[in-house]
Amino acid sequence: MSARDEVTIAVLGGGTVGTSIVELLEANAADLRERVGAPLRLTGVAVRDASRSRPGIPDALLTDDPMALARSGADVVVEVMGGIETARECILAAMAAGSSVVTANKALLAEDGAALYRAAREHGVDLYFEASVAGAIPLLRPLRESLAGDRVRKVMGIVNGTTNYMLTKMDEEGVEYDAVFAEADALGYLEADPSLDVDGHDAAAKAAILAELAFHTRVTIDDVFVEGIANVTADDMAAAREMGFVIKLLAIAEVVEASADGEAGVIVRVHPAMVPKTHPLAAVRESFNAVFVEAQAAGEMMFYGRGAGGHPTASAVLGDVVAAARNRLSGGLGPGESTYSGLPVLPVGRARTEYYVNLDVADKSGVLANIASAFADEGVSIQVVHQEGHGEDAGLIVRTHAATDAALQATVDRLRGLDSVRTVVGVMRVEGEE
Ligand code: NAP
Ligand code: HSE
Repeated sequence: MSARDEVTIAVLGGGTVGTSIVELLEANAADLRERVGAPLRLTGVAVRDASRSRPGIPDALLTDDPMALARSGADVVVEVMGGIETARECILAAMAAGSSVVTANKALLAEDGAALYRAAREHGVDLYFEASVAGAIPLLRPLRESLAGDRVRKVMGIVNGTTNYMLTKMDEEGVEYDAVFAEADALGYLEADPSLDVDGHDAAAKAAILAELAFHTRVTIDDVFVEGIANVTADDMAAAREMGFVIKLLAIAEVVEASADGEAGVIVRVHPAMVPKTHPLAAVRESFNAVFVEAQAAGEMMFYGRGAGGHPTASAVLGDVVAAARNRLSGGLGPGESTYSGLPVLPVGRARTEYYVNLDVADKSGVLANIASAFADEGVSIQVVHQEGHGEDAGLIVRTHAATDAALQATVDRLRGLDSVRTVVGVMRVEGEE
């Protein structure tokens, strides 16, 4: 058989995703051969401990030397080890050896995607990474290719399944944060370092990848404003429900135009937000992911599905393997890096959002006027004020109209300094209103 009568595949990583990739390569071999135009042959699977048998992976294919496998000259090297340093070295070595690379490694792409793109360009190979954001959901290819003739203005989504599962339980079953964290842990949903999920860093990595593709501007994880879900309380959940909202951890990337507030640019942020129950993202429950995209000509679109798990993630990886394998046979290349816009990444203070503010206040005359002045002094317009209780138990819930995040934060600082405000009980951004 000549080299072009088959396409060779090396897989770095034989864990949750790697095992599913090997299984699907075998189960779908006949279909894959037809779709690629040649059979795919697995040449090796790199793991840390090659002495331990893995279901579905022939022992003879296991190696504990990922670098040797990366350098072996396979047509396509699939990196599903995770982590940064070894993964980066192996991907760069694979490209230097002439292999195209498919990876699911959001952390590495969001930290140093530029180096991977550069190496792919230098060595004339492909870099595909559909599985790195929202698992099985076809999302990056639509952004990179299907919407290449349009202008994407905003991407807003639920891209971390673990926190969506936790927030769903807190909302629907009234479970407190600590209890639902323990439940997510017992189900094996949490990353080895749980702060990646609950503190928003996993979503931030995905937001950076989405922003770069959507706006043709280099964005890394350090450019993303991040707030996790650890401070979301049962009180916030109940207040949101009462007002017809649900709380979601959102990843939002948007273009803002030049204005009196400053120059044009992109803003990328991850934080919990109240979303109206009528918004499509409010209906995304449990560990599902969904991403809402607004493009100038196409209008609004939503992409929904499973964001994690061995088979869902392997499905996205294999789609990329087919694309890279076809390119090997045809001599073509898929899309490369596109950062021609070069827009600045702006601070979150420039984002325009609405706020919900829950205040514990002294119930006496003049309090409302004081509070209203704090908003007015920062140029923030109030939409609704709702009072609960009297005397010692008095509480006020204020919903604002849209203002810059900077003005809203300054208002909250002012409120904290007022004698009539005992505590600022909760503050949350409101997104997705008409
Ligand atoms: P995993 O279950 O922990 O598997 C990692 C695999 O890589 C294991 O087989 C491990 O070997 C091997 N490995 C790690 N470091 C290695 C090293 N230095 N040398 C040799 N082998 C090494 O991880 P996973 O869940 O499959 O995730 C893999 C990648 O996919 C990550 O980048 C992750 O972010 C991404 N991803 C995962 C999901 C998901 O649902 N799991 C979804 C989307 C994206 P041992 O088995 O011997 O330890
Ligand atoms: N920890 C991630 C999540 C895994 O919960 O969505 C998939 O990237």
